[in-house]
Amino acid sequence: RTLYIDNHTINNKSMITFETIRNDGTKPTMKKLVDLKNIFARQLPKMPKEYIVRLVFDQKHESIVIKNENEKIFGGVCYCIFPISKMAEVVFLAISSDSQVKGYGTKLMNHLKTELQTRDIHFLMTCADNLATGYFKKQGFHKHILMDQNLWKGYLKDYEGSTLMECI
Ligand code: ACO
Repeated sequence: RTLYIDNHTINNKSMITFETIRNDGTKPTMKKLVDLKNIFARQLPKMPKEYIVRLVFDQKHESIVIKNENEKIFGGVCYCIFPISKMAEVVFLAISSDSQVKGYGTKLMNHLKTELQTRDIHFLMTCADNLATGYFKKQGFHKHILMDQNLWKGYLKDYEGSTLMECI
């Protein structure tokens, strides 16, 4: 099921599209989730592939994919919403290597934030890969966690080589 589609133009040149998806068992959605899973697996090589598959296809997780003018998925973010805590966990986030450092990761994060705000979610948490903490800092994330730990402790997927970060 397509939950949300939005169009953006960068430099009046390439049209990019965002789409919010969750595993609904339909073929078109499954194909998009496979494409996204492949990007995560390539860009996050230390992460076990089975683990990525399990979470991307889990029905409690949602993803926003970013597509180019040919509808090709070249990045995305997978997240899990905790409505009672008004919090979402960014689980995986990646842009294909040939499209990195061109501003798409920022567009994707801005899109995620806007969508979550409309759903009354105001905190983002992530266990950021240590190589990506610079990116997250530029997106307004910080290491000093202000959110009451009763609202997040035990819920997040921690892993070695990561740093817990928060964005309000
Ligand atoms: N470390 C430090 N700074 C970075 C990094 C990084 N790994 N990646 C981008 N930046 C900086 C850019 O230089 C840019 O700085 P500027 O605003 O001063 O020019 C700013 O962050 C925004 O860059 P974008 O071009 O918007 O980001 P991009 O499209 O490259 O996407 C991303 C960033 C998603 C981290 C991408 O580089 C990527 O896929 N990396 C490999 C996978 C990865 O590390 N994912 C995050 C893992 S953590 C997790 O999934 C929870």
